[in-house]
Amino acid sequence: MRAWLLLLPLPLLLGAGRDDTPMASRSGFDVMTPALQAMQRDDAQNPALLWSANGATHWKAEPPNGRPACVGCHATGMAGVAARYPSFSEPLKRPVTLSQQINRCRTEHQDQPAWTSESEALLALSAYIGQQSRGLPIAPPQDARLDEWRQAGEALYRQRMGQLNLSCAQCHEARAGQRLAGATIPSGLATGYPIYRLEWQGMGSLQRRLRNCTTGVRAAPLNEEALTQVELYLMQRAAGLRVETPAVRP
Ligand code: HEC
Ligand code: HEC
Repeated sequence: MRAWLLLLPLPLLLGAGRDDTPMASRSGFDVMTPALQAMQRDDAQNPALLWSANGATHWKAEPPNGRPACVGCHATGMAGVAARYPSFSEPLKRPVTLSQQINRCRTEHQDQPAWTSESEALLALSAYIGQQSRGLPIAPPQDARLDEWRQAGEALYRQRMGQLNLSCAQCHEARAGQRLAGATIPSGLATGYPIYRLEWQGMGSLQRRLRNCTTGVRAAPLNEEALTQVELYLMQRAAGLRVETPAVRP
């Protein structure tokens, strides 16, 4: 080490004074271009708002069999709910994602067939419910029944996969902020789902986003249980960041 370095005050050596939030704990919003950030911020420009507006229509729609609409049983709305999903479902005795819970209400409480994962109705209702938590800190439940699932999620997150033999962590922790085939690798946090993605020219779920990542490393897609485990771990990683739903991504 050069002698003059020893004379520098320690904070300068450590780079303090810059924005030193570790890259691995930042929202994907922070690595987007200013134009895309503006699109997400401005409700008049954010295309995902069309889905949440349709979600409000589904929320009030009565099923043809005379069972109540969503609003019929949930008149007080869903403020803060999305910020604490996935959660443990008492009736199902396992963790459920927000979209699994919506489908549970659809099948058990409305006697209607479940919606498929990328269907317009499920994305619209997820966006509508998620938007009611927009701006609130992500608050994963402190529920010991979720621990085992979260740990399994972290193990998956750190396990190498696919022909490229890369783990989620190797991209989203070790290489966050670096460029990869024209994209900036974000920290891989699920702060704004479902999202409007420019590449899709439409709305998609977190499950769809994760399929893009596993396909990217030529790995088999994760099954539904593994997706729930990974989602639980991702929300734990994002604890305290703001819900952005419905977000825009490149
Ligand atoms: C080869 C590197 C790589 C691997 C491995 C990888 N991803 Fe990604 N991931 C990316 C890139 C690049 C993007 C952003 C693409 C874009 O913006 O066009 C992304 C996006 C994401 C996002 C969206 C973040 C946001 O702000 O909405 C999540 C969540 C995510 N990844 C999670 C995962 C998980 C979980 C795994 C492991 C199962 C994984 N990724 C594996 C490269 C990777
Ligand atoms: C007949 C009454 C009924 C209807 C109709 C109904 N739900 Fe539910 N909902 C419940 C009950 C009861 C629960 C408690 C957990 C359970 O039963 O799974 C619940 C729980 C939920 C939760 C989790 C709330 C939390 O605080 O964790 C969400 C989200 C939800 N419902 C969304 C919906 C949506 C969206 C619809 C319409 C598609 C709907 N519900 C229709 C009765 C209903």
